[in-house]
Amino acid sequence: MIGRLNHVAIAVRDIAAASEVYRSTLGAQVSAPEPLAEHGVSVVFITLPNTKIELLEPLGEDSPIARFLEKNPDGGMHHICYEVDDIEAARDRLVKSGARVLGSGEPKIGAHGKPVLFLHPKDFNGTLIELEQA
Ligand code: CO
Repeated sequence: MIGRLNHVAIAVRDIAAASEVYRSTLGAQVSAPEPLAEHGVSVVFITLPNTKIELLEPLGEDSPIARFLEKNPDGGMHHICYEVDDIEAARDRLVKSGARVLGSGEPKIGAHGKPVLFLHPKDFNGTLIELEQA
């Protein structure tokens, strides 16, 4: 059911400093930061030959990554995103198998303008999973 790895997201406290590490130390192609108010994060996209890395910095008071950074003060891997052909069919199949979808269960428009859903990390080996409509 799952397809390509769309991105790996890394939560950071300082997106400018983290961008510089990827740009200078690791020699990657790094975008300018983009504030996504409705998701409570600023995001930087790093384009690799086979996938993307996203750096996420908290934006606003109740950012969904604020608690993660309290527990992981150096930052860390926050989620991985897999592509699916049909996000509603994927959700229905997962719910039927007992997996928990976060939030209302209805897909929201994600950072790339496509519908996304998040799956509970306790059901997937401690890893928060994002599904994105391909
Ligand atoms: Co993501």
